[in-house]
Amino acid sequence: MFGQPLAHLTEITSTIDYARQWLREGAPHGAVVIAEAQSAGRGRLGRHWASPKGGLWLSLIARPGIDPAKAGRLGMAMAIASAEAISAASGCEALLKWPNDVMLEGKKVGGVLVEAVIADEHLTEAILSVGINVNVCLTELPEELRTTATSLLEETGRTYDLDAIAGRLLQSLDGLWPSVTGDGAALIAAWRRRDALADKEVTLKVAGKDLSGRAFGIDEFGRLRLSNAGGEQILPAGEVQGLRDGLGS
Ligand code: BTN
Repeated sequence: MFGQPLAHLTEITSTIDYARQWLREGAPHGAVVIAEAQSAGRGRLGRHWASPKGGLWLSLIARPGIDPAKAGRLGMAMAIASAEAISAASGCEALLKWPNDVMLEGKKVGGVLVEAVIADEHLTEAILSVGINVNVCLTELPEELRTTATSLLEETGRTYDLDAIAGRLLQSLDGLWPSVTGDGAALIAAWRRRDALADKEVTLKVAGKDLSGRAFGIDEFGRLRLSNAGGEQILPAGEVQGLRDGLGS
């Protein structure tokens, strides 16, 4: 069960630092750390992640024991659980942008970061992290993000109970976990219900190269399925740079 034990911190460099240390000390599957603010929050691709008070900054420890080929499911599950928690709290439709972004009204409201350890051909340990801009004003985020990022506060004009959102997120993750370790079917179905890229023309950066095509869902390993003049492509990693019809509702 995710959320037991739970460490609640006022401020730290990054909840990932805390989780790494906790993992070394033998923290059990399900352990969660939440910080009210981070002084050195990290995002994907080595980017800085602004983490003022008012956001949900959370890392959890998992000991999945799965085939490393299924690693992509960890980020999928965390992103889906985050979107479900955001939608339940706000009534807004949170969508998912491959690989791990959570979107509100076409703007990024949250992001997921996964670190995994592989030993003896198994994915033995992982740190799953999410950052959600909840009660955060756009002015608290770096200027260059203000046109592409949003928060629950910005979208709805009200503030939210962070513990309630975290609780809902962890509850959703509990429900998705059998699919992470099993056949992945429920994960794919849940992703499809919130897929912001489905049937859209997208441009991507993949291993430093530009690629474009029509996105048509993700597979059981969390890889993006893309169709273009070269046929069907299955992309394990990449970053969406743009899409023709815009994102979200
Ligand atoms: C992304 O780039 O989209 C992923 C952002 C992940 C941010 C979270 S906040 C909690 C945890 N601690 C960090 O330093 N980063 C992750």
